[in-house]
Amino acid sequence: MDRISLIVNGAEREARGVLPHTTLLGWLRDQGLTGSKEGCAEGECGACAVLVARPAGAEGEEGGTRLEALNSCLVLLAGLNGGEVVTAEGLGAPGHLHPVQRQLAVRGGSQCGYCTPGFVVSLAAEYYREDREAADFDIHALSGNLCRCTGYRPIEDAARALGAPAPDDALAQRRQQPAPPPQPTHLRTPQGDFHRPLALSEALDLLAEQPGARILAGGTDWGVEVNLRHARAGVTVAVDGLPELRTLAWHGDSLEIGAALSLSEIERRLAGEAPLLAEWLPLFASRLIRNSATLGGNLGTASPVGDSPPVLLALGARVVLASRAGEREVPLSEYFTGYRRTLRREDELIRAVRIPLPLAPLSGFYKIAKRRFDDISSVAVAVALYLEGDVVRSVRIGLGGVAATPLRARATEEALVGRPWNARTVREAARVLRGEGTPLDDHRASAAYRAAMLEQTLLKFAFEKTGLEVTYDQPA
Ligand SMILES: Cc1cc2nc3c(=O)[nH]c(=O)nc-3n(C[C@H](O)[C@H](O)[C@H](O)COP(=O)(O)OP(=O)(O)OC[C@H]3O[C@@H](n4cnc5c(N)ncnc54)[C@H](O)[C@@H]3O)c2cc1C
Ligand code: FES
Ligand code: FES
Repeated sequence: MDRISLIVNGAEREARGVLPHTTLLGWLRDQGLTGSKEGCAEGECGACAVLVARPAGAEGEEGGTRLEALNSCLVLLAGLNGGEVVTAEGLGAPGHLHPVQRQLAVRGGSQCGYCTPGFVVSLAAEYYREDREAADFDIHALSGNLCRCTGYRPIEDAARALGAPAPDDALAQRRQQPAPPPQPTHLRTPQGDFHRPLALSEALDLLAEQPGARILAGGTDWGVEVNLRHARAGVTVAVDGLPELRTLAWHGDSLEIGAALSLSEIERRLAGEAPLLAEWLPLFASRLIRNSATLGGNLGTASPVGDSPPVLLALGARVVLASRAGEREVPLSEYFTGYRRTLRREDELIRAVRIPLPLAPLSGFYKIAKRRFDDISSVAVAVALYLEGDVVRSVRIGLGGVAATPLRARATEEALVGRPWNARTVREAARVLRGEGTPLDDHRASAAYRAAMLEQTLLKFAFEKTGLEVTYDQPA
C-alpha cells in the first residue's frame, strides 16, 4: 500500500505513490494547491502554513475540533492519513474573501504576496481559537511567519481589526464537530516503510524487530533533515497516535507528561500550573513549531542546545523509556552520554517525562539567543531553588549550550546549598557558574560570551525572583 486519504478544504482526496519522506507541502503543491509556498523548507518562514483539524479536548474526551496552524514543509504526508487540512485556498477565494484575507488586503498587509498565504493561515488559526475574545488577538500567533517586504505593521493592523467569526461561518461551525480520529497506517514502498501504529505494543514490536527504525513525533527536526540534508529512513515509526505517549497527569508525587504531546498542548493543559514550564514554553520557536514539536522529540535529538533539557534538569525530571521488555526510568541527569548520544537503546522509545512534586517554589528560565523569539539558544539556564528561611535548602541548575551535552551545574549547586541566600553567596556562586561546562566558540556565540552569560543569569535570577541585588562593588 502506498496510498492514503485525507480531507483537504472539505473534500476527501486520495494520495497515491506516497513515500515516507513525501511532505504535505510537496503533495499539496502537486495537487495544484500552490497557495502554500516553500520559502525555506525548514520551519523558519511560515510561507507553507496550513490548518489541521485536531481534537479540542484532552485524550479520550468527547469534544469538538481545534484548528491549528503548522508548517506543512515539515509534515510527512503519510502521518496525516485520515486527517483533515485547510489551506489558504480553503479559506476564501477572489470575490469571496475570508475576513482574514479581506483585512490583510484593505490594510495593505501584502506586497509581493509570497508570505501572504502563510500569514492568512496563522491569522485564521488565531481567529478561530475557541477561547479568544473578539477584541483580543495574540500577536505571537504570527511569530513563525516572516515577511520580507510589507513590514509587519499593516499585518498587525489587520490582525487587530479582526472581530469574532460570524455564527454561520463554516469553519467556526466545523469546530463543533469532532476531529477525525487517528488512522493506523502501514505503507510499504521501494523507498522505505512508514508505520503509524495506534497501539504502544505494536510500536515497540516494530522497534524491536527493525533495528535502526526512525521514530517520528512532530517532525520538526526530522523534517528538516529530510528536506535539507536529504536524510532517509528505511523504516519510520510515527508515535504521535499512541495514547500512552499523550498523557498529562498530576499524580501525588509526580507530574507525568507524555512524550508525544505537542508543546502547545502541554502549554494549554498545564495552564500555568508549572511555573518553570510556563516561563520556558513561549520562548520555544514559534506557535507554528510548538503545534508540532514534542518533548520526546526534543530529548530524542539529544542536542546540546535543546531547550527542554536545562528546564527538565532543574526540575529533577526522569525519562520513562519503554520497550517490549517493559519500562525503565532514568534520571535525565544521567540520560545524555556524549554529543548527541543517550542511554536509550534502539528498541526503546521515550514514553514520558516524570517531574517530581512538589515543584520548587522559586524557579527561572533564561534563554540567551540572538533573537528574543524563534531562535535557538546560545546558552540556556534553568534554576529551581528551595529556601528554608534565608538558607538554601536545595537547588538544581540545568545548563544548555555550554558542553557536548546538557548538564547540571553541580559545582555551583554545591556552592549554594546550606548557605544563606545573600549577595555574597550569589556573587561567589555566580563566579563558579561562569566556569561550568566547556563552552565553545561557534557561529552563535563565543566561549567567553557564553561563560559571561552563565554568571549573569544567576545574578538576574537572584534579582528577578528574590529581589536580591548583587553588584561587584559591594563589600564581600
Ligand atoms: C524553526 C525551528 C525552530 C526551532 N526552535 C527550537 C527552540 O527554540 N528550542 C529547541 O530546543 N528546539 C528548537 N527546534 C528544534 C525542534 O523543534 C525540537 O527539537 C522539537 O522538540 C523536536 O520535536 P519533534 O516532535 O518535532 O521531533 P521529531 O523531528 O519528530 O524527532 C526528533 C528526533 O527525536 C526522535 N524522537 C522523537 N520522538 C521520540 C520518542 N518518543 N522517543 C525517542 N526518540 C524520539 C526522532 O527519532 C528524531 O531523531 C526548532 C526547530 C525548527 C525547525
Ligand atoms: S517553507 Fe518555510 S516554514 Fe515551511
Ligand atoms: S509581502 Fe512579500 S514577503 Fe511578505
